[in-house]
Amino acid sequence: MSRSRPQSPAVIPLFLAAVALLAALAGQAGYRQALDQLALRGQSDLALAADSLTSQLQTYRELAVLMADHPVLAGLDPRRGPEAAPGREAARAVLREVADKTSALDLAYVDAGGQIVVAASGATGSRAGAPDVRRAMQGALGDAHGPGAPGGRREWSFAAPVFGGDGGVRGAVIVTVDVDDLEEAWRGGRAPVYFVDASGIVFVSNRSELLFWRETPGRPGLQPPQGEAPPVRARHVGGREVWRVEWSPYVPLHALHLSQPMPVIGMTASILVDLAPARRLALTQAAAVAAICLAFGMMLNLATERRRTLALANAKLETRVAARTRALTQANTRLRREVAERQEAEAALKRAQAELIEAGKLSALGQMSAGISHELNQPLMAIRQFAENGAAFLDRGRTEVARDNFDKISGLAQRAARIIKNLRAFARNESEPMGKVDLVQVIDTAVELTAGRLGRDGVRLGWDRPAGPVRAWGGEVRLVQVFVNLITNAADAMSEQEDRGITITLTEGERLVVSVSDDGPGIADPERIFEPFYTTKEVGSDEGMGLGLSISYGLVQSFGGHIRGVNGPGGGAVFTVELDRWETRRPQDGSEGQAA
Ligand SMILES: Nc1ncnc2c1ncn2[C@@H]1O[C@H](COP(=O)(O)OP(=O)(O)OP(=O)(O)O)[C@@H](O)[C@H]1O
Ligand SMILES: [Mg+2]
Repeated sequence: MSRSRPQSPAVIPLFLAAVALLAALAGQAGYRQALDQLALRGQSDLALAADSLTSQLQTYRELAVLMADHPVLAGLDPRRGPEAAPGREAARAVLREVADKTSALDLAYVDAGGQIVVAASGATGSRAGAPDVRRAMQGALGDAHGPGAPGGRREWSFAAPVFGGDGGVRGAVIVTVDVDDLEEAWRGGRAPVYFVDASGIVFVSNRSELLFWRETPGRPGLQPPQGEAPPVRARHVGGREVWRVEWSPYVPLHALHLSQPMPVIGMTASILVDLAPARRLALTQAAAVAAICLAFGMMLNLATERRRTLALANAKLETRVAARTRALTQANTRLRREVAERQEAEAALKRAQAELIEAGKLSALGQMSAGISHELNQPLMAIRQFAENGAAFLDRGRTEVARDNFDKISGLAQRAARIIKNLRAFARNESEPMGKVDLVQVIDTAVELTAGRLGRDGVRLGWDRPAGPVRAWGGEVRLVQVFVNLITNAADAMSEQEDRGITITLTEGERLVVSVSDDGPGIADPERIFEPFYTTKEVGSDEGMGLGLSISYGLVQSFGGHIRGVNGPGGGAVFTVELDRWETRRPQDGSEGQAA
């Protein structure tokens, strides 16, 4: 598995730097784009302002030209004196009317020497030195503006020559305009616009605070008439001039400076376009790009972090699985060892059990030996008696009686042979296979083996013997051992009393149940009777080892049966042995099973 490396600490600052760079580039691009659009609009605004000023001035210039041909001026008496006065009055009335109608400040007529002959305002004096008049006297159209400093009223005048009959200049018409009136139309317009004359002075502007400021060659921006303005920081963005000016609240802080020469009126027009929208747009664009990049980065980081956590969890899990597998393998090995040990112990137990069974058998045989010798002795004595009697009868020629004796001898010999056969079978030390067993025959044999003992003790035996065979699943010799144990125990329990009786019954139900009950005192501790070496009999004596019932328990268990011992309702002990019918355990091939 590939383990994910922890994030390098330099990654985040690097990423942030990249985001900042990208945002700056996006902002710059947006700024330039917006700048182009603002420049286009600014240029058209500037052209509009310049056109407006030019056309207004043009009107007054044309007025001067028109008035130069007016007949009232042509007929003016050039002499000074009372006789010329009526003509001057009429001319003045005309000039005043025209001035009123055109909103001109003044209209005047000067003679060839520059002396005012007549003026709408009634002004008198000489205008000889004025540049416009000087130009008009040369036969051309002159214009002038002034003053060049704050304090006076800004005027713009046009002088048109008035030609005499001889073709020479005999005077000039001067139309004077108040620049304030001209500015009225576009004062306070959106962007600051100013017009700088040939001497570098701002003469016309829609921001009054900029009037009379001057341009310094080779230096961007304007300077106020007195003192120094905060310096203009100018830079070029995409070939455009961008200023940072702190002149007035009505002049944008960041402005695009555009200018346009106006040769017709001898001025240069300038506009300062507010860059705030462009800056806002650039900022928005940069912020958007930064936000997108950061969001993307965060998502990427989140995904990486998630993968890393998952990988860590996976690694942890794998370690745990490996540890667990190791533990399980160890446990498995241990279990296998334990199983082997258990199997060994089981084998040892089986061996011990087999030895115990043998010991039990020997003990039973030991106990039975007196009875058995008695049992065998009796028929032997009888045989001897019958044989002697038989011989005597033969001697007397009573063959019938002798024959009867021989028959009795034969019967007694058979009986002795059966006892010996049972004993041999009981003592046989060989493993006996399980299979079909006639339970009636088994109980018969047990009764026969214990008959001597019971007879000596005078025990009544009630054995409700079924007529036919009852087939059970088990081992014959071992079952005989069980019932011999039960009968012997019953006899032992009743040894202290006068009246002694044992009842054996066989009930055939789903299973086969043999019960052995006695008239004894009952079991002292029913819970413990099947424990090995539990006995109430004298320890160490021949009487009891406390093994009979525990061996019997093991034997019945090995046949799949059950043995239990309780005290009966009328006193005395009741032992029941429950066994499977042979039919229920019969091998499926239908064979009779192995013979016991
Ligand atoms: N029929 C019975 N009535 C009363 N007590 C019984 C009866 N059968 C068994 N017991 C009690 O159960 C005990 C255990 O019996 P068990 O046959 O196992 O051993 P034992 O007879 O004492 O000795 P062993 O059979 O080895 O010679 C007996 O000592 C006795 O106290
Ligand atoms: Mg016993």
